[in-house]
Amino acid sequence: MDIMQTDEVAFVTGAASGIGRAVAFRLAARGAAVALVDLDARKLEPIVRELEARGARTSALACDVSSSDSVQAAIGRTVGEFGGLDTAVCAAGIARIGDVVSAPEDDWHRTLAVNLTGTYLVARHAMPHLVHRKGAFVAISSDAGVRGSTGFAAYCASKHGVIGLVRCLALDHGPQGVRANVVCPSFVDTPMADQLLAAPGVQSRAFYERRAPLGRFAQPEEVANVVAHLSSDEASYTNGMVYVVDGGTTAGTFEAKG
Ligand SMILES: NC(=O)c1ccc[n+]([C@@H]2O[C@H](COP(=O)([O-])OP(=O)(O)OC[C@H]3O[C@@H](n4cnc5c(N)ncnc54)[C@H](O)[C@@H]3O)[C@@H](O)[C@H]2O)c1
Repeated sequence: MDIMQTDEVAFVTGAASGIGRAVAFRLAARGAAVALVDLDARKLEPIVRELEARGARTSALACDVSSSDSVQAAIGRTVGEFGGLDTAVCAAGIARIGDVVSAPEDDWHRTLAVNLTGTYLVARHAMPHLVHRKGAFVAISSDAGVRGSTGFAAYCASKHGVIGLVRCLALDHGPQGVRANVVCPSFVDTPMADQLLAAPGVQSRAFYERRAPLGRFAQPEEVANVVAHLSSDEASYTNGMVYVVDGGTTAGTFEAKG
């Protein structure tokens, strides 16, 4: 792939794995300079090498999205290196299993800190730069953001919160020219899905695939394509949208035949 570079600067959290990684590749392919953000910068290095070999401009930034100082520093470095910010994508996330009685309180706090506060902190520190360039903000929530899910109390609460937050961003910052939207995938083939399916008490992959009208999990690239659309001029009138990418799973009660 020969990349035609543009002026776009993107900031992608959770870029070392799964959906965030796929988003980083997708945005780099359309010519954006991409700041790759994750907990451990060493895990980003092979991605940086691969993207730079294709002609992309990237940087790898170690950042814990649950820390305001860490997020502020990462966004500051991105703007310092690339000159501004057009696109912020929040794909960093964790999933802990359990209901409110069985799961430890620490799981509740950490899940909210990473998934919800992490999205808030990126919005908070990125917004002045996005306003300056009339940019776009995209968060990854989940189908667990639009309905309950047995045994995922903290995760569901955090993902419902992300949708509420993004709707407020759309109202508060739309008038300043920033569009904010949220993507809600059901199961996606990533290390997070593998980890969840290996946990005790969780149903099998086949069980979840049978609940999806399309009969399979999404690929990370299928979610990244939606993020790319929502953060592009093709979606220039799309603001506050809750975009479910779930193969029809939440469209209604589905019963697989046969
Ligand atoms: N995989 C799925 O089935 C699925 C479904 C719906 C929604 N999601 C959501 O999509 C997002 C991406 O998930 P994924 O499947 O790619 O997961 P993943 O585990 O493959 O990748 C998540 C990345 O986030 C990073 N991360 C975790 N905590 C962080 C922190 N505090 N600071 C910075 N980075 C941190 C991890 O290191 C990892 O690289 C998550 O928000 C997840 O909840 C995933």
